[in-house]
Amino acid sequence: MKRTHNNGALRITDVGTSVVLKGWVAKKRDLGGLVFIDLRDRYGITQLAFSPDSPLYKETLAIKSEYVLEVQGTVIERSSKNKQIPTGDIEVDVQAMTVLNTAKLPPLLIQDETDALEETRLKYRYLDLRRPVLQNNFLIRHQAAQAVREFLNNEDFIEFETPILTKSTPEGARDYLVPSRINKGEFFALPQSPQIFKQLLMVAGFEKYYQIAKCFRDEDLRSDRQPEFTQIDIETSFLSQEEILDVSERMIKHVMKTVKGVTFRDPFPRMTYAEAMDTYGSDKPDTRFDMRLIDITDLAARTTFGVFTDNIKNGGIVKGITVKNGANLYSRKGIDKLTDFVKKLRAKGLAFVKFTDGALAGSIVKFFDDQQQAELINLAQLEDGDLFLIVSDQKAVVLQSLGQLRKHIAKEQNLYDDDHYDFLWVVDWPMFEYRAEQQRYFSLHHPFTMVQDADIPKLDSAPADALAYCYDLVVQGQELGGGSIRIHRTDIQNKVFDILGISKDEQQQKFGFLLDALQYGTPPHGGIAFGFDRLIMLLAKTDNIRDVVAFPKTNSAQCLLTEAPGPVADEQLAELAIKTIK
Ligand code: AMO
Repeated sequence: MKRTHNNGALRITDVGTSVVLKGWVAKKRDLGGLVFIDLRDRYGITQLAFSPDSPLYKETLAIKSEYVLEVQGTVIERSSKNKQIPTGDIEVDVQAMTVLNTAKLPPLLIQDETDALEETRLKYRYLDLRRPVLQNNFLIRHQAAQAVREFLNNEDFIEFETPILTKSTPEGARDYLVPSRINKGEFFALPQSPQIFKQLLMVAGFEKYYQIAKCFRDEDLRSDRQPEFTQIDIETSFLSQEEILDVSERMIKHVMKTVKGVTFRDPFPRMTYAEAMDTYGSDKPDTRFDMRLIDITDLAARTTFGVFTDNIKNGGIVKGITVKNGANLYSRKGIDKLTDFVKKLRAKGLAFVKFTDGALAGSIVKFFDDQQQAELINLAQLEDGDLFLIVSDQKAVVLQSLGQLRKHIAKEQNLYDDDHYDFLWVVDWPMFEYRAEQQRYFSLHHPFTMVQDADIPKLDSAPADALAYCYDLVVQGQELGGGSIRIHRTDIQNKVFDILGISKDEQQQKFGFLLDALQYGTPPHGGIAFGFDRLIMLLAKTDNIRDVVAFPKTNSAQCLLTEAPGPVADEQLAELAIKTIK
């Protein structure tokens, strides 16, 4: 029989209609003769009713969860209505029923709240995916992909596909390698992003490229990272940074409006990288709450507290954060826990002062004279009941530990609203970061990122001070996307490679084809890539990336469903001329 309605469709106005429904048995209740079955499909649930005198009653005895049914019946009004579901006013009085398939007892509860371990859910992912919450996440994912395409198509972008079997790309994570059978001993790398190909498409004259692209990175996994993930990847020719930010921002706003109905009246705020680091201790500041890092280095240097003064003499800094009402929220024990937290982030300790009844209290207060105490109250903007937490250390440690601490406290104290989208552009990134351990410069974005015009001379005189045309979009303390204007001049590209210590041989071997292409009339170009999975996490309100990837990997980079990766037969290895070390 042809299905007439889905299981989310029927309403009180349909009473009297004869319908044919298909779906899975979500639940069966037998109230002593009166049998109810909740029939589920991706659209919702419809209650089926079998009255005690129904000839089908006997058949319902054999029906179990997740059986697939086809039923024909009449829509009737329910005597006790369920206001929780859209079809809750009606039920279907069943006149005919066919079991389309039976099902084994599912190893997990197929409903929004399931008590199954994630391992079980991932092993039986096809059952997990039947849960309405997950079904909804993938509907959102679909809608978002369509909204992205709709927007970019209207802006005259062309959708491309670029190779998966390719060469190493410059994102800096470890590559996934694929051995070549025909060229023994040689390997493809799976792309960490389509970066180089999209630049080549600009050389080829396509001007506006996009791709919803699979990327592969063999890196340590976290709740917002998968080894294979998806980017909304964009590249343009002849557009300035300003124009790229504009089109990107409009795209994100279009997706937020289409999928979530959320509109943003104002342009997304901007912050420089330097300000983000100094005031939030992070290049992806969570601006849903305040608690900025306050610099008290000048003041601390004048006190008699040796920990501060010695550190400052050694080139360190002193910063703190004000926790509103923290004197009451954190006891000695509570502060000890916060101290342990920052120690894990390499800070040597956490000093504190409390401001209660108009006076500062705490073991370090005695090292501040009266005027210095007044200065501190003023700098930290302390009000009665506040707590000021201080880290004195090398700059990187101070920023990192306080940056994380403010997020930790905000979470602990519920200081933000999950529905608030604090989109923020972080701009003016430095070109390079000097890492003392390796004694060399690294790109903060990637080596094709263009230096700001005014800073070109700094490539020779002070590379560490040179700023790039580079930008990230941040939301809720997470990096949603990032990009840059690219270098289209061979002389500047060579200089950047030199600063990064990438030898001529290595340049040729890794990116020779791109360097060649730069010599054939490459237009000025630039682009951006957004983490598509992360965008869906935001839209679906989950902090676990696996909730928005249909068949995800675990944190140990395994697929529990297919049991990949797995061993392969010796013959396959021999064919590839590969020996494994046991
Ligand atoms: P980048 O490396 O910053 O830039 O990546 C862009 C965005 O991709 C997302 N992302 C990830 N999402 C899930 N799992 C991962 N392992 C993962 N790694 C990155 C993030 C990030 O902001 N080619 C450049 C872009 C460009 O310059 O145009 C690039 O890939 O949301």
